[in-house]
Amino acid sequence: MSSEWIARDQKRVWHGFTQMATFADLAPIVVDRGEGAYLIDVEQKRYLDAISSLWVTTIGHNNNEINEAIIAQLNKISHSTLLGNSNVVTVELSEELAKVVPVIEPHFLYASDGAAAVEQALKIAFQYWTNIKNFQKTKFLTLGEAYHGDTIGSLSLGDSGFGTEIFNPLRFKTLKTPGYNTNNWLYRAILELEANYNELAALVIEPLVQGASGMYMALPEQVKELVKVAQGLGVIVIADEVATGFGRTGKLFASDMCDINPDMMCLGKGLTGGYLPMSTTVVSNRIYEAFLGPDRSEKTFYHGHSFSGNAVCAAAAKKHLEILLRDKIVGNVPKLAEHLKNELELKVKNLEFVADIRQTGLMVGIELHSSTDVGKRGRAVCIRSVNDGVLLRPLGDVIVLMPHLNFADENITQTVDVLAEAIRKSK
Ligand SMILES: Cc1ncc(COP(=O)(O)O)c(C=O)c1O
Repeated sequence: MSSEWIARDQKRVWHGFTQMATFADLAPIVVDRGEGAYLIDVEQKRYLDAISSLWVTTIGHNNNEINEAIIAQLNKISHSTLLGNSNVVTVELSEELAKVVPVIEPHFLYASDGAAAVEQALKIAFQYWTNIKNFQKTKFLTLGEAYHGDTIGSLSLGDSGFGTEIFNPLRFKTLKTPGYNTNNWLYRAILELEANYNELAALVIEPLVQGASGMYMALPEQVKELVKVAQGLGVIVIADEVATGFGRTGKLFASDMCDINPDMMCLGKGLTGGYLPMSTTVVSNRIYEAFLGPDRSEKTFYHGHSFSGNAVCAAAAKKHLEILLRDKIVGNVPKLAEHLKNELELKVKNLEFVADIRQTGLMVGIELHSSTDVGKRGRAVCIRSVNDGVLLRPLGDVIVLMPHLNFADENITQTVDVLAEAIRKSK
């Protein structure tokens, strides 16, 4: 029974971004297994995973080929350290990733979560300038409404919000310029770059879509212009593609969509198809080379995680990338996104509480008019949708849709039908 599992859970498990005192009241599902587009709970009820399990799942749950690749790797070795040593499958994965990432002559530093990939990127950018004896460039330019993760470094690059203001005293200061939600954001970002480039170690952006803040979107040509100005002024560009990477926007990376070559890139979430925790900081050769020097010298990057380059994760990631490319899955995203757009226009756009619909590829935010109690409507709509078999989770009063890249058209239709009904009933 779900209720028994929820009671057992509540006694011992602490869920992130969740008020545990009310956890049980908000209709959590307790998943027993997954099957393609669906999650199946302990009572055998099926739910469409319309948020890709918090934006990680790309080609569905329980994929046979990824499962087999994981099992095959388990039967060889699960983990051996990457600090000073290596393993076969991580080398192979890096070679395959190198063929597709937009970073020039890339090198890959692995970690487990998106936040850790961002943390690595900011430390690499900082040390890069020290290594080439420029001690002035120590600051970061970041965007309003940005989200880069929850460790102190990544939290510092992000804007406050989601209750994280409490940590403000722990955040280090960054230069901030308005995010994609502000009309003249590009103009103002360029002004900041021009005024401060001498002191800037890096510009950090979520290319095209600021996801966690509520799905705010930029145009590809705007991002391209920003990156051109930054790189022209000698500012390192870090593209945080933890959310946008691996097909979500309609190309393999949002950077491809914007036609940019970031100096560094952060990947996570979909790297393993959402099967296992693996992230990576992708670094251009120009930056990487500044870290080369004598053994034990101060040029070395003194940072590394225990599970960096975990072999089982790497095997899953390698197989996932192989499937994406072989089956041309990302090529299907624009068509599926168009279907989703049409469905939303037809069934959701004109509903009473809908304020705005924002979409890039398969990343969608549906902003509802807030009631006096901000976030309450978003929560109510999602609880009703879950009850009707579509798993959703809101960002305040913004309902996020993030279908798997290989949802069937019917899965999209079901998602929108259930959502529309939930909004209609959300008085
Ligand atoms: C753009 C971006 N960066 C970083 C992160 C943090 O990733 P993780 O939750 O794996 O630490 C997220 C998570 O949503 C994200 O959207």
